[in-house]
Order: sequence, then C-alpha cells, then structure tokens
Amino acid sequence: MSKKILVTGGTGYIGSHTVVELQQAGYEVIIIDNLSNSNVDVIEGIVKITGILPVFEKLDCVDFPSMKSFFEKYPGIDGIIHFAASKAVGESVQKPLMYYRNNLVSLLNLLELMPQFNVRGIVFSSTCTVYGEPDNNPIDENAPIKPAESPYGNTKQINEEIIRDFIHSGAPVKSIILRYFNPIGAHPSAEIGELPIGVPQNLVPYITQTGMGIREQLSVFGNDYNTPDGSCIRDFINVVDLARAHVTAVERMLTDKSDEKVEIFNLGTGRGVSVLELIDVFEKVSGKKLNYKIVGRREGDIEQIWANPGRANNVLGWTAKESIEDTMVSAWKWQQRLRERGVM
Ligand code: WQD
Repeated sequence: MSKKILVTGGTGYIGSHTVVELQQAGYEVIIIDNLSNSNVDVIEGIVKITGILPVFEKLDCVDFPSMKSFFEKYPGIDGIIHFAASKAVGESVQKPLMYYRNNLVSLLNLLELMPQFNVRGIVFSSTCTVYGEPDNNPIDENAPIKPAESPYGNTKQINEEIIRDFIHSGAPVKSIILRYFNPIGAHPSAEIGELPIGVPQNLVPYITQTGMGIREQLSVFGNDYNTPDGSCIRDFINVVDLARAHVTAVERMLTDKSDEKVEIFNLGTGRGVSVLELIDVFEKVSGKKLNYKIVGRREGDIEQIWANPGRANNVLGWTAKESIEDTMVSAWKWQQRLRERGVM
C-alpha cells in the first residue's frame, strides 16, 4: 500500500513542486493550506502534470481543534512535510507577532498531534539563513548558527530547536531538517511555478517580470561587495531538484535507514553564482537585454553564501542536477505562461 504524506503549504511554491514529485514516486498526498499566499488553482497545475488529484483541505495549521479533526478524518498518515509558514523577511520585521504565532504554533500543533495519530516523521523546511554571514564558503551543516537577522529567520531557528528538544524528550517521532539555499525556477512543463503576490522581493521573479515588461527596471543591490564582480553570491537551486530531495528525505525517514532521530541537510548545488552572473544567464537564455541598474546595498543582505551539499549527496543520496541555464529557461517559460494565461 502506498504511503500517505501530509504536505502542509502544499499549494505554495516549493510545496506544489514537491507534491508532484511525491505523486510521481507513488506516494498518496494530502495537501493542507490556508491559501494565505497561494491559490487553489495550483491543484489544477499539479493534476495536469501527474494526472492525480491530491486531496486538498483549506486549513490553518495554527488552528488546533481543526487540525485534530483533520487527523481524525484522515487516519493512517505516515509522514508530514511541513512547508506552511510565513516567509517574507521584511514583513516579519513589521509584524513579528504574526510571524512567531504562525510559524511556531503551526509546528507545535503538528508535533503535539503526531504521536496521538501515529505519524512517524516530519520533514521540516529550514533555510541557509540560519548561518548568517558565513565565515567560510562553501558552508556545511556543522557551521555555527548565527543570531537571526529577522523575526522570520528566528522562527526557523527556534523551530529547529523545538524539533530537537521534542525528539530528545523521547517522543516517538523522527525528523529531517532541510536547509534550503536559494530555490528558483519552475516545473519544466510550466504548469506550476512561483507566483509572488505584489512586487517580488526575490531576485528571479523580479528578473523575469522585468524581462516581460511588468516591472520597468531591476535594481541590483550593490556592486561594491568583496566578490569577483562586486555583486552578492548565492547558491541558486532548481526548485524541482529541491522537491526531489524531499522525496528522498521522506523515504529515508520512513524506512528507518538511519538510527539518528534528527538529521540536518543543506540543499544547494555547491556552486556560488553572483547576481550579475545570473542576469547574464537570463539574457542568454531569453535573448532579451535586461533593463537593470546598480543601486545601493539592501539592508541585511549577506555578501556571499553557498552550500557544501556533501552530506546530502553522500548520506541522502541526492544531488542537484539541473544547470543554471535550464533553470532560468524554466523560470522564463513560467513567466511567459503566466502572460498567456492572462495572469500577469
Ligand atoms: C538574492 C540576491 C539581493 C532582488 C533568501 C530567501 C529569503 C530568505 C533568505 C529563505 C541578493 C539581490 C534581489 C532585487 C537584487 N529565506 N537582489 N535585486 O536575500 O538570498 O534570501 O534567503 O528561506 O526568502 O529568498 O534572496 O532573491 O531576495 O536575493 O539585487 O530586486 O539578489 O540583494 O544579493 P536572499 P533574494
């Protein structure tokens, strides 16, 4: 019998790509999402790719009684992938309590309910933000955790601690914590992708929207960093590659391949790419000249960070495969599809 996986935040950007990969790997997927930052139409995109309609419930993980009823309604869930969270760094500075409530209470509710309903494992979405500005690159999982730069980043750090403390207390639960670097791109079918609400904060949607003429000009935040071309360096990871890592993690967690009850993996390519290099790749694959200008640094930006993904490669058996060129092709194709569909 196929294993049943609950994906919280399953209509979101990384969540939806993970649902596709899980279904294609034979898992039965149940999505819950409060649709605060995504649209239910995403389900149609998933079905177009896989031909399988996932169960969907509009629910907020913060609402304990509803979550309890949910687990009563859907018995036999084997594992959870917990994506549902608020994730805008700037907004978290403005609305810290909202961030702490959403991101902490959601996890607390899930952890409390897991043993009651015999759910054995939880994969948690964390972030390279926990490392702050690295002392050395590439960075591995043993690098120190630095004080968080924002309430958002702090919620991820605290969530990691909550998971560790709960499991060390003897709770009958396993967890794999995945620290994502910078996920970009879209499914190659262009049926699902990233759909930021309002003005994009992240680089790639800003690039593709500028390429499409939705935004007039991209601002490049700083070219006076201590990097080869002066712009910041990130480890941009293809979202489908990232999604595949979750399937591998779920399998590892639920088949007891490891005696460790909590494991942490960096998910990145191991390659640092600068902001200006990424613009160059976009121009090559789209054939468009991008209108951009160099402006001052953005407050709180890290100068350079890229992953040592050795642990994920060797222990998890997962490696990022897609090239940065193909990834930017997918991002551009998705932006064009949004135009065809009249979305933007
Ligand atoms: C990348 C680079 C910008 C926009 C990521 C996640 C974020 C958070 C932390 C993740 C930077 C530059 C950007 C623009 C630019 N949490 N840039 N012009 O800051 O690495 O953050 O990690 O869990 O959600 O996305 O990503 O895409 O915002 O920026 O020059 O209009 O692009 O300065 O150097 P970042 P990003």
